[in-house]
Amino acid sequence: MSVLEYRDIHIERETSGNSPSLSQQLAQALRRKIMNGQLSAGRRLSSSRALASDLSLSRNTVNSAFEQLKAEGYLDSLPGSGFFVSRRLPTGDTPPESAISHSVEEWPQLSRYGQTLQKAADKYAARDKANLPFTVGLPDLRAFPFRLWQQLYRRHSDRLVLGGYHSPQGYWPLQQALAEYLNASRGLRCRPEQIVITQGAQQALALCAQLLIEPGEAALIEEPGYRGAQRAFLSAGARLETVVMGKHGVAVDQLPETGQHRLLYCTPTHQYPLGGILPAHERLQLLQWAEQQKCWIVEDDYDSEFHYYGQPVAALAGMAEKTPVIYMGSFSKTVLPGLRLGYLVVPEHLVDAFVAAKAAGSGESPILSQAVLADFIGEGHFARHLRRSRRLYQQKWEHMRELCQQHLQGLMTPVVQSAGMHLAVSFDDQSLDDRVISQRFYQKGYGSSPLSSYYYGSEVRSGLTLGFAHTAEQEREEGIQTLAELLRSQPES
Ligand SMILES: Cc1ncc(COP(=O)(O)O)c(C=O)c1O
Repeated sequence: MSVLEYRDIHIERETSGNSPSLSQQLAQALRRKIMNGQLSAGRRLSSSRALASDLSLSRNTVNSAFEQLKAEGYLDSLPGSGFFVSRRLPTGDTPPESAISHSVEEWPQLSRYGQTLQKAADKYAARDKANLPFTVGLPDLRAFPFRLWQQLYRRHSDRLVLGGYHSPQGYWPLQQALAEYLNASRGLRCRPEQIVITQGAQQALALCAQLLIEPGEAALIEEPGYRGAQRAFLSAGARLETVVMGKHGVAVDQLPETGQHRLLYCTPTHQYPLGGILPAHERLQLLQWAEQQKCWIVEDDYDSEFHYYGQPVAALAGMAEKTPVIYMGSFSKTVLPGLRLGYLVVPEHLVDAFVAAKAAGSGESPILSQAVLADFIGEGHFARHLRRSRRLYQQKWEHMRELCQQHLQGLMTPVVQSAGMHLAVSFDDQSLDDRVISQRFYQKGYGSSPLSSYYYGSEVRSGLTLGFAHTAEQEREEGIQTLAELLRSQPES
């Protein structure tokens, strides 16, 4: 084969830690030539000296690629005669540029579940995960005690027992520490056996969707509401039915009474994203309604740790002896979202089903992280971190409201309650497209979510949610001024 036939081989020389080495790149290029027939069976390859010179590589690099291909069975060698393309290979198959480049018609179509997901993908595409100032849902990453976390991590990192398989339900000491915390701080009356550790609240939602309703049935949701919940229920093939919202959240006296609903998802302690807190008498009514209707309430207690005025409100799940409530929480706001740990507290008779579904879907949650977290909670660091974060976020929250008054009057109105880590604002000019504003704000380096994106049905409010926890003072000042300029520069509608 003439060396000219190798000229189209492109080798990327700037290799970094994870990119393939020069010899791996060469081996890959030769493999392709063999598979697509450019180098046919029995052909002798150029000598390593010639190829090295032609491609400006070292002979060692070329020899190492040849040896690799020989080991894989693509090449044979004869002493003194060099390397040949193996005659035992089927030829003429063109390896695809990408392993997923099939045309749709050639292959069996997706399962019904897959098709449902594909349809939902547009609206619920994984949101931009950039950790920018004002990204919603992000805690103050800079305030996390990383050094302490590392110390706890080192304590566990070489424990053999944590390197093996474990219970998909969770790491027992974490279940114990969490049960204690939830009983003391959230008014729950649960036993560690009722806790299922999940990969974030998102897996908790997915499990509820799989186990509590049938495809085609309606899941009742708040509107506006959490997109992660909408995504989980739609993915399981459920229909979404929005419930009427009152001043503080779900309008309990307007809930449907058809006996047809098996699941209501709600955020009674900080309605997401508007922040209302359902008062005690409405909570009790809600529980009564659920019992009468035989409907599970999935209570998402995602940021109840961050209430700044008055005492924290106890969770719905702890309000009665046998509540029809599946309680869920997350460490994404109280510790770190990257940890991907959340939990469910389920009635005892459902534990086995939830654990089995979790085992089938993902197996256990990362056990080392659970061990570190168990100590973090059990040794009091969690409570301390929460106290500090609460103080810090309250200051930021007050600063945000001052800034809004100063710069955004006449442009937008903050929703008074909002939630613990974000401020929801409603545009005074409701004809403004909040997706456009959010996108322009993003181009200036700031997160935010359009308020309209939390709506599922026809009613839509235009505005933004602005996460303030992961912002420094200057970022808040500059960000809010930038937002004011953006809004002022919008063309008159
Ligand atoms: C309403 C609500 N629930 C739960 C979560 C936590 O989700 P996860 O634990 O999957 O990160 C969030 C995070 O933004 C949220 O806003």
